[in-house]
Amino acid sequence: MELNRRTVIAGAAAAGVAATALGGTAYAAPGRGRPARTLFGRLADGTKVHSWALENGGTRMEVLSYGGIVRSLEIPDRRGRYTNVSLGFGTLEEYVASSPYFGALIGRYGNRIDKGRFTLDGTAYQLSVNDGENTLHGGAQGFDKRVWDVEPFTRGSDVGLHLYYTSVDGEMGYPGTLRTKVTYTLTRDGDWRVDYEATTDRATVVNLTSHVYWNLAGEGSGSIHDHELTVDASRYTPVDAGLIPTGELARVAATPFDFRRAKPVGRDIRTAHQQVLYGQGFDHNWVLDKGITARPEHVATLRDPSSGRTLRIATNEPGLQFYSGNFLDGTLVGTSGRVYRQGDGLCLETQHFPDSPNQPSFPSTVLRPGRTYRTTTVHSFGA
Ligand code: GLA
Repeated sequence: MELNRRTVIAGAAAAGVAATALGGTAYAAPGRGRPARTLFGRLADGTKVHSWALENGGTRMEVLSYGGIVRSLEIPDRRGRYTNVSLGFGTLEEYVASSPYFGALIGRYGNRIDKGRFTLDGTAYQLSVNDGENTLHGGAQGFDKRVWDVEPFTRGSDVGLHLYYTSVDGEMGYPGTLRTKVTYTLTRDGDWRVDYEATTDRATVVNLTSHVYWNLAGEGSGSIHDHELTVDASRYTPVDAGLIPTGELARVAATPFDFRRAKPVGRDIRTAHQQVLYGQGFDHNWVLDKGITARPEHVATLRDPSSGRTLRIATNEPGLQFYSGNFLDGTLVGTSGRVYRQGDGLCLETQHFPDSPNQPSFPSTVLRPGRTYRTTTVHSFGA
């Protein structure tokens, strides 16, 4: 069965959950209930893809079993008007055809690995190469393109989904069978918490993240250049022309990369700094001052002055990839039928640093049998 967008919205509405807001709909008081499932579409081989609707503490989200994609995330503005603040598509076909990782889970390795090569315990590995001569976001068929097993839960005041995917030994060139579990939780305060876990049966490298494109004024509403961003980082990792880190941890002071105090994203984005030119804007990893922490700690705040909506991010990861939507080029039509142009959304990807398998001075991304990879990122919303 072919599902078009209207069917999907009707399905979500039938499940008692708000459909994607087209231009800031007013809603009834926030509720909480068991996550509701509807059929979103089918892949070419017939595999069903479901959409899961979740709601708690004033936050509503829709998650696909394909790629663990956050298809929409709705939060109120200062006057209680909801809108979808996450870029996405109306149909499964568009996600499959060509998506710049809208809302997706990223694995096995977030961001780039130089020439898709690394050596671990004396063995050289060649990964799937999908970004010029480099590997980006796991390779040609990364976790963003896999169908995850989804298990809903309600636990105390939380609601959420467990997402499971097992990546076989050698998939995309990575060693080891990687068993991955990602948990999306909406808390009673409306926070969206992401817990990543993975185990392996052979030494491997792992760096999982989430690739939501935020626009706190609403997806399809225009540029994020007025959004004010704060990142608690005194250093970042400069890159070469292929966006591979040089290995240096450069100071942000007196550069466009200084977001230690709230600054509009667009203020320095046209500065003729070599790193801004390489990224065609911001597309870099910030070295978080707090380093790796046992628990998630606050690292970044994003605020849209027009709506008053805020997003605060806490993580136990040491890095944050801030990508200012530079490759959006006006060729994709988003969820509410509006064209996405350069800078219409931005990503804040908590992570270990890009290309760590080839950078001995960066925190290690190696996972060994008997150990469990665990990271957490919490997104808190306000207005
Ligand atoms: C990441 C990368 C960018 C780009 C986007 C997706 O943020 O760093 O260079 O690949 O993903 O388009």
